[in-house]
Amino acid sequence: MKKFQLVTLPGDGIGTEVVEGALKVLKDACSRYDIKLEVQEFPFGGRSFDQHGTPATDDTIEACKASDAVLLGAVGGEKWDHLTGADRPESGLLRLRSELGVFANFRPVRVYPELAHASTLKPEVISGVDILIVRELTGGIYFGKPRETNRSVPDPYSFDTMRYHKSEIVRVAEKAFEAAIRRDGRVCSVDKANVLESSRFWRDTVVEFAGSYSGVELQHMLVDNCAMQLIRHPKQFDVILTSNLFGDILSDEAAMLTGSIGMLPSASIGNGPGVYEPVHGSAPDIAGQDKANPLATIASTALLCRYSLNLEQVARDIEQAIEGTLAAGYRTGDIYTGDDKETLTGTMEMCDRVLDALENVEKPETA
Ligand code: IPM
Ligand code: MG
Repeated sequence: MKKFQLVTLPGDGIGTEVVEGALKVLKDACSRYDIKLEVQEFPFGGRSFDQHGTPATDDTIEACKASDAVLLGAVGGEKWDHLTGADRPESGLLRLRSELGVFANFRPVRVYPELAHASTLKPEVISGVDILIVRELTGGIYFGKPRETNRSVPDPYSFDTMRYHKSEIVRVAEKAFEAAIRRDGRVCSVDKANVLESSRFWRDTVVEFAGSYSGVELQHMLVDNCAMQLIRHPKQFDVILTSNLFGDILSDEAAMLTGSIGMLPSASIGNGPGVYEPVHGSAPDIAGQDKANPLATIASTALLCRYSLNLEQVARDIEQAIEGTLAAGYRTGDIYTGDDKETLTGTMEMCDRVLDALENVEKPETA
């Protein structure tokens, strides 16, 4: 029997609900192949601050480092909005990413045929969209030093630093190019090279790296244009490679192609355990009401199987179960359009319906 060690960090708001539900699906999907998961849960973000005075304790970080993979919900909420600096729930998340060295963040944007009409965009614009956003995750303006706010001068000021080392660009570019080879073979590197020094350096570095790589077509696009192209003609994209800040913004935008940000999973990968989390936030307005869409977190568990546990078949089974559930018409509020064929469900019922669908997913004989 294969065994893996997982750490779950449900975090705040709807994070706890979606992680609980997704974990049920993941455990069930693994048990079909006699794979056992040992799970340790830790408070994280605001909840950790309330209990321990810090959004991420050293014990939590060490347990994550010692695990095979980390499944995370979401952090933050109004209750902790007054906190500053390292106390903020978001700082705990950034610390986790940095300490685990998960420098490449994969955000696959796939439009399920059943949801093509749930988006605010026209079905013909989005049906068939299949984009992989590869966002640099442990550098750039999120981490650059110095950063400072000075309020004690006549004209107060504040600044952050957007810094990239060549090695940081090359290693994430490599992940994007490797992914492109397994997809449609096209990388679009997104920057703001018409204005920013660090973007010109990003572009030069990606061009140089591409020279050593064959079989991938490289294109460059300015981030403002990319934001427009994503809603004008999203089908033009295969892999989008971009920096931390631009990737943060573009991935929220791209999420809307799928109908709801509640559909977008993510995988953060480095050289050790990966971190898997939905792209959506803690949504305090619907927390505790069994309304959240758990599909992004369930899809994140599929990525966890694929990238950290090397369980490709389990990943596919979970993805097939999600497709089956949507095809059967089950919808949480965020993707419900009121169509006759749809059934409105809560968070936990949606997870149960995915579990049902999983039972109908056939196991290959050789797995
Ligand atoms: C994300 C989130 C985080 C980020 C926040 C919560 C720090 O928006 O994962 O996209 O900006 O990276
Ligand atoms: Mg974001």
